[in-house]
Amino acid sequence: NYFALIMAGGIGSRFWPVSRTNYPKQFIDFFGVGKTLIQSTYERFKAVCPPENIFIVTNELYSDLIKEQIPEISDNQILAEPMMRNTAPCIAYGCMKIREINPDAAVVVAPSDHTIADPAGFVAAIEQSLKAASENNCLITLGIKPSRPDTGYGYIQYNEHTLQSDPDIHKVKTFTEKPNLELARSFIQSGDFLWNAGIFIWSARTILSAFEQHLPDMHEIFTSGRSAYNTQQEKEFIGNAYQQCTNISIDFGVMEKADNVYVLPAEFGWNDLGTWASIYDMADKDYVGNAVIPGEHVMMFDSSNCMVNVPKDKLVILQGMHDYIVVESNNTLLICPRDQEQSVKQIVNDVKARF
Ligand code: GDD
Ligand code: MG
Repeated sequence: NYFALIMAGGIGSRFWPVSRTNYPKQFIDFFGVGKTLIQSTYERFKAVCPPENIFIVTNELYSDLIKEQIPEISDNQILAEPMMRNTAPCIAYGCMKIREINPDAAVVVAPSDHTIADPAGFVAAIEQSLKAASENNCLITLGIKPSRPDTGYGYIQYNEHTLQSDPDIHKVKTFTEKPNLELARSFIQSGDFLWNAGIFIWSARTILSAFEQHLPDMHEIFTSGRSAYNTQQEKEFIGNAYQQCTNISIDFGVMEKADNVYVLPAEFGWNDLGTWASIYDMADKDYVGNAVIPGEHVMMFDSSNCMVNVPKDKLVILQGMHDYIVVESNNTLLICPRDQEQSVKQIVNDVKARF
């Protein structure tokens, strides 16, 4: 009864110019390990459920990339979205389709762009949650111990109450998606908050009734054509459904509002590759804090805490540079102080408007 739904429709604009609309970060081998982020994600889920129960929801632009990178996957396992509508519609679509295959399905929904240092620990946490989600009417998220007041995450406060069947899984008191900096700081200071890992575990039945309650219009849109799922009619039905959908994330649309949310505090070397800073944090560094990914085509003199990510066919020399990011891809070179990298998202919009 176990299923996985991998979300792979984001464009990763904070990683520009390496991540681009036509080649987003989940399809990139960031660390030169021979596997892209989505290939690693798929591998991890093969340890949790049969491969035919793994579904990938993505923009239709990327269907071919997925077939190329995961050749064993069948067409019916790729859910192609006609437009970007954030994570709520993609989860409604995926869980509805899976419920038509198996009404008792327990589903893990996960991003395609995270790295996990301890895959065995990850698989254990997912299996524990899938078991609990099959037996209880609850929405489970995985909670990560936070290390900084990052405003890009959801924050979870939980209480002592646990599931009767599993004392590790706690009742969530508050779920706050992307708080402002002041609020994030107070959460970190108070010490009893966790980051939402963005990985959700629930039965198809439970999440769909949460949609019915908190996003009733969206629920109606995706149930209205139930007989189309897993048939030739699915593409056309979904094309129309997305036209009518609002753009909202599962976090704002459901998780902040639902009262049957639980969290499993977990540790498995989770890293959300959200920004260049997170890549820098994970990379091997020399004694003055310079990181070069990949290779030995970079020479740095009197420079520290820099990160260079430039194709190997170019020799790069840094002199007297401190705390900089130097990234090249697709004939575009970006040089940016590390503490200003959040502005990359905005820069991309400006550049796109001009070129
Ligand atoms: N199919 C599809 N369609 N996938 C999407 C879409 C879409 O329209 N939008 C985003 N995704 C995918 C992204 O590729 C990513 O794998 C995942 O869904 C999550 O989207 P993000 O845009 O990366 O969300 P976030 O990082 O801002 O926030 C979420 O993740 C954080 C942890 O990494 C939230 O769940 C936060 O609460 C959480 O802390
Ligand atoms: Mg993310």
